[in-house]
Amino acid sequence: MTLTTCGALLAAAAGCERKADAAQGRDLFASTCARCHGADGNGGVALFDGGPSSRNFRDHTFQKDRTDEQIKLTIMNGKGTGMPAFGATFTEAQLYALVAHVRSLDSGETKKP
Ligand code: HEC
Repeated sequence: MTLTTCGALLAAAAGCERKADAAQGRDLFASTCARCHGADGNGGVALFDGGPSSRNFRDHTFQKDRTDEQIKLTIMNGKGTGMPAFGATFTEAQLYALVAHVRSLDSGETKKP
């Protein structure tokens, strides 16, 4: 699913209000995620020596290996030692907006992390 095709996930969440979702996702990402993942999501820098890198969302290989549901669950439950669990911080609509924003960062190309 991409932002340009109105997928079932977004449709179910917000009556397919893609523009609102995109703006909300971008704002939430900038305020909450960018400090680790980078403003444009290219992450790739370990947060501490030997720590995991924060992923490159511009990498198409990463994007196609993950479902929307997996990305949503990562935001809620965290991952490994570096990715915090946001638990109930976000509403369902905010979670969908964040997933949509992460998806929008896909460059369509395979990049190095
Ligand atoms: C404190 C730093 C930090 C913050 C803040 C953070 N992340 Fe992460 N994130 C990480 C790290 C590190 C990883 C890699 C974890 C691993 O693979 O062990 C990661 C991984 C991910 C992944 C990939 C998981 C996978 O399937 O491999 C997604 C998606 C993600 N983060 C989304 C987000 C979103 C959305 C936000 C904001 C709501 C966010 N992150 C905030 C550090 C952070």
